[in-house]
Amino acid sequence: MGWFPCSGTSKKKRKKKQSLDPVQSSSESIRSNPLFKTKEVIKNGGSDNLAAQTFTFRELAAATKNFRGDCLLGEGGFGRVYKGRLESSNQIVAIKQLDRNGLQGNREFLVEVLMLGLLHHPNLVNLIGYCADGDQRLLVYEYMPLGSLDDHLHDPSPDKKQLTWNTRMKIAAGAAKGLEYLHDKASPPVIYRDLKCSNILLGESYHPKLSDFGLAKLGPVGDNTHVSTRVMGTYGYCAPEYAMTGQLTLKSDVYSFGVVLLEIITGRKAIDNSKTGVEQNLVAWARPLFKDRRKFSQIADPGLQGQYPARGLYQALAVAAMCVQEQPNMRPVIADVVTALSYLASQKYDPESQPVQNSQWSPSTPPRSKRDNGKRSSGGGGSGSGSGSGSEKNHTKRYF
Ligand SMILES: Nc1ncnc2c1ncn2[C@@H]1O[C@H](COP(=O)(O)OP(=O)(O)OP(=O)(O)O)[C@@H](O)[C@H]1O
Ligand SMILES: [Mg+2]
Repeated sequence: MGWFPCSGTSKKKRKKKQSLDPVQSSSESIRSNPLFKTKEVIKNGGSDNLAAQTFTFRELAAATKNFRGDCLLGEGGFGRVYKGRLESSNQIVAIKQLDRNGLQGNREFLVEVLMLGLLHHPNLVNLIGYCADGDQRLLVYEYMPLGSLDDHLHDPSPDKKQLTWNTRMKIAAGAAKGLEYLHDKASPPVIYRDLKCSNILLGESYHPKLSDFGLAKLGPVGDNTHVSTRVMGTYGYCAPEYAMTGQLTLKSDVYSFGVVLLEIITGRKAIDNSKTGVEQNLVAWARPLFKDRRKFSQIADPGLQGQYPARGLYQALAVAAMCVQEQPNMRPVIADVVTALSYLASQKYDPESQPVQNSQWSPSTPPRSKRDNGKRSSGGGGSGSGSGSGSEKNHTKRYF
């Protein structure tokens, strides 16, 4: 990892580079596309809406101490993410270095820069800038200090607290608001296509923001009900009709949201290869349980140790069940999901004054957090939560 390309840092050189910059040239076509506007942009009179800065590779190498291992935050299907400090502003950032040998990447890089340059919302991650020096492709984001929701649900460590019911509802409501902005405020709507727990990043006080827009698509316009695409996404989150036909609608995102909400409630992974049979697939496992209210306590994450409101669990499960329905037209629109989850998030549960539910957790099943050295146990009665030994990551991929 000790390489540096010969990228200049002088302003003169940088200016020259910008004219060859693939993002700059592509942005012109999007900027001039009268179809793509967000309400905010319209409100601002369409003023400079592509605010991302350009960085040289040298600047980003300096920010990450030459991509040193101890700066590594995580690794996804497109490359590695490092924590860094920008010398120019002293700002702490997260820098994603796209894999130069990867088959996917360049298109996703462009879409990410262009989409995030146009879309701004408190529940979307902020893109600070990018680097497109030679064949290097790097994205510079605001740093999200609490990492991803996936880390908290499925990869707990002694320094991470177990997510409480209230925090889970706050995260679910915030993520739904981010999606609502994409679906209802952008025109034409934006279909996110890659909603999953690892793409929900957490800021101070667990404020959630959606990240990774490389797969986002402009939604249907006019009388069209769908856009046709190559099927891409992450196994376990993809709506069945989209996986089968490639016909993408806003309801495909609603399905993925339902899977995320189920993960939030159950603590289980969308796909868990460490389990067997129907338990490998969260939706397949949960569907029969939706029908029987007496089984709801089996669905709740044992890590909650019964500390959730029975009514709130029931209502949250009802929302999740509607979102993951097979028939896309039976799924709710995201605005209705936001209404329901905002209400649930406003109903604070207090374990001191409200009853603790009779959950699957028992003293013989230690809570996951601090005591078991970060490794999750599978809860009692075969319905335990967590990742078990199946710690491999479920990354974004093309299906065909
Ligand atoms: N802005 C950020 N701030 C803090 N941590 C981040 C940020 N962006 C990403 N990360 C960390 O880096 C990890 C890898 O992110 P990345 O988006 O590359 O992969 P992924 O979401 O796990 O998988 P995929 O490639 O399928 O999207 C995340 O899980 C998260 O822990
Ligand atoms: Mg991601």
